Amino acid sequence: MADAEQLMQIAIRRAILIPSAEIYGSQAGFYDYGPVGCAIKRNIENLWRAEMLQKEGFHEIETSLLLPEIVLKASGHLENFADPLISCQSCKQKFRADHLLEKHPEAKNIKAASLAPEKLSELIAKYELACPNCKTKLSSQVGWFNLMFKTNIGPLEGNPGYIRPETAQGIFIDFPRIIRNFGGKLPIGIGQIGKSARNEISPRQGLVRMREFTQMELEYFFHPKQQEHPKFASIADETLRLAEESGSPSEVKIKDAVEKGLIPNQIMAYLLWKQKQFYLMLGIPQDKFFFRKIPKEETPHYSLGNIDLEVETSYGIIETAGTAYRTDYDLSSHMRLSGQDLSVFDEQTKEKVVPHVVEPSMGVDRTFWCVLEHCFREKSPSKEWEWFDFPPKIAPYHAWVFPLMKKDGLDAKAREVEEKLRAAGLSVYYQESGSIGRRYARADEIGVPYCITIDYESLEQEDVTVRFRNDAKQIRVKIAQLAEELKSFISQNKVTG
Ligand code: GAP
Repeated sequence: MADAEQLMQIAIRRAILIPSAEIYGSQAGFYDYGPVGCAIKRNIENLWRAEMLQKEGFHEIETSLLLPEIVLKASGHLENFADPLISCQSCKQKFRADHLLEKHPEAKNIKAASLAPEKLSELIAKYELACPNCKTKLSSQVGWFNLMFKTNIGPLEGNPGYIRPETAQGIFIDFPRIIRNFGGKLPIGIGQIGKSARNEISPRQGLVRMREFTQMELEYFFHPKQQEHPKFASIADETLRLAEESGSPSEVKIKDAVEKGLIPNQIMAYLLWKQKQFYLMLGIPQDKFFFRKIPKEETPHYSLGNIDLEVETSYGIIETAGTAYRTDYDLSSHMRLSGQDLSVFDEQTKEKVVPHVVEPSMGVDRTFWCVLEHCFREKSPSKEWEWFDFPPKIAPYHAWVFPLMKKDGLDAKAREVEEKLRAAGLSVYYQESGSIGRRYARADEIGVPYCITIDYESLEQEDVTVRFRNDAKQIRVKIAQLAEELKSFISQNKVTG
């Protein structure tokens, strides 16, 4: 695994990531995705879409980024979505009070994130914490800072709007129209991939704490009395790595975890298992991620259980997804404030119910970072360059196409092959500059799994060489069969010859 600083430098050098507004000095907490990063990010999102929505028969929607205040009042964000803030009275810099406290050696075991501002102020005074910027002793009181970006909708003042802090609320408020259009029956799954924004007090660790980021969220709506999942039997004997509260993870059988109440119901268990499969497909090794049951005192009052997905990285262990049993909290709150009926009539029980919801919410950017970390490979005797071992499904290109030389019709033939592969739906890129060895190295450096070379034999035999990224072995394949062969390698995750 790379050191985070080194990996971020590599990502920026190869235009995988670009600090936003870089030419103006950039603001903390914002990153753009360059051509390579954007392709990988889209592939991660498409794989989630395929695995978590399409294969389950769920719906995908796209909702507004800007929401009127009433929506966020109902969701509780207006009142409660805040972090503790302390200001330095000398240099006027502002800091997250809980993060400052956590760094103090004597406060290591304190769960600072769950403390009230008064308690934080007391402990900051007790340990005589100093301003990290000017080193003056901090003496002001800790207060709350709401993390939502506020604006005014339209030219007339007095119509406040906020950039959504999660994509979930758009799904809750569109729920009644969607369920009416799709048979009015529970259970129903509705997902969304999109941007959210939080005005983090101290963005840090690259993609881990950003001010604008992408979430992939699924809301699974079900009858509160039907806690079973139709596919549970097929995964009941599978296992998950699960940590209880602050303990270390151990491998548990899914059915045992549900029976013991470690996982609140079959629905959540099934959705956790889906997330495990998804992370394995992304190339994150099984022993590098696990689920953590969040202690009751740290879950919101309406939740019947929260379980995070955590990954080992060079920043330490980071949470990349949270799955919450949100009960009917959001729908009931929106019913109260909108005056609309968001309940569903259940044909089987002849009851009107406000559905319960289990929500797996995954951050794309944090997941992307974990993929970079776990797919990064250092130089070795067999490869004298740093490279990425991305699974072919999420690699930035399926293949790069090279003419051996830029002459004698090799370039024209290579262009023809490039077009054929594109027409077959593959993502390819034509490269003719530099020695062939340098071109292979450049492809490895961004994790391209296959390099196709058109040489003199190709002109006579209508074939090409396919070089596999991981062991540099080459095989010859007929041009007529090339697209199908590549598709078969991709689906088998084949990266050696
Ligand atoms: N709807 C539930 C929800 O938003 P969350 O735990 O606040 O839950 C879910 O966020 C995921 O979104 C996190 O696990 C993380 O991957 C991502 N996320 C949240 N805040 C983020 C930030 N400031 N920067 C990058 N990703 C973030």
